[in-house]
Amino acid sequence: MKHFFISELTEKINQEVKLYGWAQSVRKHKEVIFVDLRDRSGVVQVVITKANQEININQEDVLYIKGKVKNRPGNFVNKNLPTGSIEVEASEVKILNHTRPLPLQVNTSGYEINEEIRLKYRFLDLRRPRLFRNLQFRCRFIQTIREFFLEKGFIEVETPILSEATPEGARDFIVPSRLQPGNFYALPQSPQQYKQLLMVAGIERYFQIARCFRDEDPRADRAYGEFTQLDVEISFVSRDEVMKMIETMIIEVYEKLKIPIKEKPFPIFTYQQTMRKFGADKFDLRTEKEKEKNIQAFAWIIDFPFFKKTNTGWTFTHNPFSSPKPEFMEDLLTKRNINEILTTQYDLVCNGYEVGGGSIRNHHPEALKAVFEIMGLSKDEIESKFGHIIDALGYGAPPHGGIALGIDRLLACVLNEKNVREVIAMPMTSGGKTSVMNAPSPVDEEKLKELGIRISV
Ligand code: AMO
Repeated sequence: MKHFFISELTEKINQEVKLYGWAQSVRKHKEVIFVDLRDRSGVVQVVITKANQEININQEDVLYIKGKVKNRPGNFVNKNLPTGSIEVEASEVKILNHTRPLPLQVNTSGYEINEEIRLKYRFLDLRRPRLFRNLQFRCRFIQTIREFFLEKGFIEVETPILSEATPEGARDFIVPSRLQPGNFYALPQSPQQYKQLLMVAGIERYFQIARCFRDEDPRADRAYGEFTQLDVEISFVSRDEVMKMIETMIIEVYEKLKIPIKEKPFPIFTYQQTMRKFGADKFDLRTEKEKEKNIQAFAWIIDFPFFKKTNTGWTFTHNPFSSPKPEFMEDLLTKRNINEILTTQYDLVCNGYEVGGGSIRNHHPEALKAVFEIMGLSKDEIESKFGHIIDALGYGAPPHGGIALGIDRLLACVLNEKNVREVIAMPMTSGGKTSVMNAPSPVDEEKLKELGIRISV
């Protein structure tokens, strides 16, 4: 294993060091070769003099260098590089691996390169310092969030990936069952029902950095296929307490990571106010100056209508498991004034994106049943799709509520990236193809037979 990173070299003046990395650029002069050696932490200039000049180094070859760290002569100092005041005089140079000519440049920002090519060669694309920094920051961000919740007595619980459909408004990814041919699992669009079952189980404070799967049209703020939520659920809690807990978490985490926030406490708008003021339920509260400084402007939205009209009846606006505001419970149970029922839903927006949403849930089985009845589901449909959770709510379910925040969207805002794919290591293309690997791909006839599946397209 190598013992240190290039970023630490400025503290090793006049020391003999062993370096490993990639040749970011190679400049050949008569007497010397200059190599900009890059590792994940930075770049340093390596000077290769006569003795080692036989070696034919190409850009992006993997190198081992032994040499002495020297201060650069005053007029050669490069103020634009963190290691610009030093260079390494090589006494030994080894090429650990050659590279073929690269299909894309890795020392630019990458924004200028076709995304299909970037994702096909994501293992090269990730060599660019911007993307490495994004991944490193993502790790610190999630770690800091975890610390907050663990300290507050929350338990992180993993919930199943092979599961049954749960409605979040997108199409499901389905997985055929070999043991029960003709039947399918669905990948969870969110852990919504599992986290509620954990509340019935008495966990009281749950969180999870959870992968969610949704088949919906990709956009700049919407990864196709899978994305990551910070998922939270709490028992014996009010709407305002959930909002306060999440706001405190964000403020603490952002302070630790030195990310500026525009307004604390976060402003709260009702749905009606936002529609009147901004014409949409997502909005950007920053001035042009604040946008330049990449300040984060959070706001809450509350008091959404519970239901909206469809061609055939009613559907939920946000989450069917939400409870109405207490003053509308009677209307829900008696199915009256449906268009006036307001939900306990709260959405969090930041810099023009919806970065989170949650609610207090219906913990009485009859109230949840009433939601599905208003949506026009038959008794049998309610039983087959939601019988398990309605049943569970009948066994001493505590009052509970929660929220999920979109980790990828929060990170895209903080890192000032326009597209969530820039903060995900291996995202799918907009056409639904995986990075580097060739999924989705055909399956052998034999495997299909085992699953009882015949392809008809
Ligand atoms: P919701 O569907 O609003 O709520 O999702 C919560 C948050 O997840 C993020 N998000 C996405 N991020 C990237 N790509 C996507 N395709 C994507 N879809 C959603 C958004 C969103 O605000 N179970 C409820 C939460 C709850 O009520 O506790 C849920 O999933 O930032």
